Amino acid sequence: MSERFYSDARLYDRLFPGGEPAADFYKAQADRQSGTVLELGCGTGHKLIPIASDGHPCTGLELAPEMLAEAQRKAHERGVEVEWVQGDMRDFHLGRTFDLVFIAANSLLHLHETADLLSCFRCVRAHLAPGARFFFDVFNPNVRFLADADGVRRTRDSLSFADPDRGKSQG
Ligand SMILES: C[S@@+](CC[C@H](N)C(=O)[O-])C[C@H]1O[C@@H](n2cnc3c(N)ncnc32)[C@H](O)[C@@H]1O
Repeated sequence: MSERFYSDARLYDRLFPGGEPAADFYKAQADRQSGTVLELGCGTGHKLIPIASDGHPCTGLELAPEMLAEAQRKAHERGVEVEWVQGDMRDFHLGRTFDLVFIAANSLLHLHETADLLSCFRCVRAHLAPGARFFFDVFNPNVRFLADADGVRRTRDSLSFADPDRGKSQG
């Protein structure tokens, strides 16, 4: 499923234009940590291009060649230097370590098997310099919210999120 979903990188960027608070979070971590940065599942570079613009040496590893090509195109257009690597976060060997490694925007949830998560984390560990930090974000679904699903498929425009714990609606 992820291969087809990520085969149209420009469509991905239209659906998810970036600039969200998470981008600021990762940028702040890169500033705080300083040094070299590796993002796994970097997509079209939403997080990594702004970090590289700040002068941090950045490497982005990504499975989908289409996403990687778009990341490369955008970085080039903005005159930003990033090392782009096509690869699988479950099995990569870059031959050096990094000061900050991160996996953003639920990308880790593409790994469904425990063995895949373990091999990814083992690879991450092998790429961490002394004192390095590793961050990832994944959404934390509310079981009650999921159990209430009515089976109706809705378009993105009509979606709204109601937090059952707060009883408040957010568009
Ligand atoms: C939700 S997108 C996030 C992209 C980017 N990190 C961002 O913040 O916009 C998930 C990305 O992970 C990539 N991906 C999925 N499985 C992967 C794997 N095993 N190794 C490397 N990248 C993978 C997808 O191709 C996709 O570009």
